[in-house]
Amino acid sequence: MNYRTRILGTGMGLPKGVMKNSDFESFLETSDEWIKTRTGIKTRHIANPELGESTLSLCILAAKQALEKSGVKGSELDLIIVGTVTPESVMPTTANSLQAALGASKAFTFDMQAACSGFVYALSIADLYIRSGKVKKALIVGAETLSTLVNWKDRSTAVLFADGAGATVLERTEDEDHCVIDTELHSDGSFSNILNIPHGYAKVPPHSGRYRHDEHTIHMQGSEVFKIACRNMVEVTHSILEKNNMKKEEIDFCIFHQANLRIIDMCLKSLGMGRDKTWINVDKYGNTSAATLPICLHEAWEAGAVKPGDNILMATFGGGVTWGSALLRL
Ligand code: UT7
Repeated sequence: MNYRTRILGTGMGLPKGVMKNSDFESFLETSDEWIKTRTGIKTRHIANPELGESTLSLCILAAKQALEKSGVKGSELDLIIVGTVTPESVMPTTANSLQAALGASKAFTFDMQAACSGFVYALSIADLYIRSGKVKKALIVGAETLSTLVNWKDRSTAVLFADGAGATVLERTEDEDHCVIDTELHSDGSFSNILNIPHGYAKVPPHSGRYRHDEHTIHMQGSEVFKIACRNMVEVTHSILEKNNMKKEEIDFCIFHQANLRIIDMCLKSLGMGRDKTWINVDKYGNTSAATLPICLHEAWEAGAVKPGDNILMATFGGGVTWGSALLRL
């Protein structure tokens, strides 16, 4: 059998609270104007743990919507992967807890840590399991509460990162007209210094004398990350097309990691496409890491910007560094 992976349905979840750029002006030396012009971000959603909002609660919202849209019950799932760097807990994994919440008792589950590339990595692995014949139905989620890892005193990162989740239900198919065509994954650990969380894990655990809470936050050399993200996302966009003998003219729609509007524009330019061929929500949601791509896919599908049969190209980049792309025919 020549099994392929079909995307059945999508969903998303956001915390209720919205933070505007101007809200930062009272405690950081920044401005709405700087944030808008340098990043494209205007607002972002921030989870409130007092309201029970967490990575898991956002996963549940997104997953239930995706299952409903797909007409699939939790009990039918064989595999659940959650791409996240802000898991509900390290053990059990977020995917374990999501399984319990969905009654997905026959699924095997794990979290996927590949920073902002977590969704493309999860898609690639689920696709391989489905193609192998071992899995029939899978749920993949990209979910983050990056607000828990932000240093709220650091203007160079606090204004960028935010919270949200996006989910996708996948099913085994033999229909080559509606399937994941290919995925391409990369990483280069030699760039780990440009985007990382120095303390709080095994290297400098919280009980160590060297531990500092302000180091247990996202540290980023923004302009370095910007340059490498542009270069690698453009490269991986073109290489997946080349490997699949597809021309850029055959792509109906593109979805890029929502970190910075200027990076998205750079990727579009390299494909000779305008903003009408992509989905942009970095202005509303900021950078939600592994959640940006599935949220975009969900919104674009709901809005009718993409439709069954469309060739969709995705590309992402994140800490590690990790990057990758996916080609789908919806
Ligand atoms: O999701 C993972 C991948 N992440 C990314 O792809 C993010 C990639 N990087 C970026 O998006 C951009 O580099 C940033 C938005 C983070 C920064 O933009 P930039 O144009 O590269 O600015 P910069 O880091 O070169 O900083 C320029 C100036 C600096 O001041 P000086 O040293 O020139 O006086 C910063 O201190 O802007 C300053 N700055 C700010 N000013 C006002 C940095 N953050 C802020 C801020 N408000 N929030």
